[in-house]
Amino acid sequence: MKIAVIGGDGTGPEVAREGLKVLQAAASLENFKYELTNFDFGGERYLRTGETLPKGAVDELRKFDAIYLGAVGHPDVPPGVLEKGLLLELRFQLDQYINLRPVKLFPGVETPLKDKGPDDIDFVVVRENTEDMYCGVGGFLKKNTKDEVAEQTAIYTRKGCERCIRWAFEFTRKRNSPKKMLTLVAKTNVLTYGHDLWWRTFQDVAKEYPDIKPDYNHVDACCMWMVKTPEYYDVIVTTNMFGDIITDLAAILQGGLGVAAGGNMNPDPGGVSMFEPMGGSAPKYTGQNVINPIAAIAAMGMLLEHSGQPKAAARVMKAIQHVTGTKMKSQAAGKMGFGTKEVGDLVVAAL
Ligand code: IPM
Ligand code: MN
Repeated sequence: MKIAVIGGDGTGPEVAREGLKVLQAAASLENFKYELTNFDFGGERYLRTGETLPKGAVDELRKFDAIYLGAVGHPDVPPGVLEKGLLLELRFQLDQYINLRPVKLFPGVETPLKDKGPDDIDFVVVRENTEDMYCGVGGFLKKNTKDEVAEQTAIYTRKGCERCIRWAFEFTRKRNSPKKMLTLVAKTNVLTYGHDLWWRTFQDVAKEYPDIKPDYNHVDACCMWMVKTPEYYDVIVTTNMFGDIITDLAAILQGGLGVAAGGNMNPDPGGVSMFEPMGGSAPKYTGQNVINPIAAIAAMGMLLEHSGQPKAAARVMKAIQHVTGTKMKSQAAGKMGFGTKEVGDLVVAAL
């Protein structure tokens, strides 16, 4: 397996190191070989060279089986530069049309929801990852005058929503939970063009999956239910922008950004997917050995799951739950009862 590693900014390289430590141990237990190549993309490189992704970088990355990303985000780089120039650019160029966010409360992890436990918080969000307001279509008119107009366009295509919805149905079938339910989350009562397309496509594709219960929530209601009755959900499929928002809400339910991991996936043959912890670069904690590596290790688990090593992935996910359930005091940076490296060591020991 050839893996491209982008440690990135802030605490990104530190948490990625722990994920790679776990990879090394899992590979020797499960007997597979891999090769790592490091890329120095991120804020430091941008400040040095003025480029976010050097010419040819995307083609270079296409040669890998998967990409493992620590974090991007640098306090000296204006907002939007790295997000658009690196993260979104890779998602678009590599056509990573699925953003997969498992929302699972691990044992021992605190949730802000009263009286809810690991049995209640266990669902998955499948977020479309290449369209919507993320495609950067829009512009200004009369910028910086009092008559200024700003336009930001959401693009939805039949192809874009159909491939995402179909993948979500397949995923729900494979997940095979007792609920076997896929909930479309959208806003059909207001977005009567774009989300009508999603709605009609969802109905069409649902016919191919009679074993899966098709379900629908408006996004505002989904936010309420997710807090009140998270156990209702099995798999959610949603648009890019709503998916961005509800997965942060979901991340908090599962114990916060130190725990939540995600995959930007191109599941087509030859597609290259990228896996990352959701926590961001947390600059103030850089180099202190206090940041939580669990999310990065879980991202490595996802990488293994989706790169042909499901047994290694299962080991990693089980080991994580052993460590959260029996070792760590908290999932908050500096309060774990262990340092970043020690948490990594504990997961390795539990593999
Ligand atoms: C995420 C992030 C990104 C997004 C940002 C950093 C551009 O919030 O992966 O959810 O909005 O998709
Ligand atoms: Mn987000």
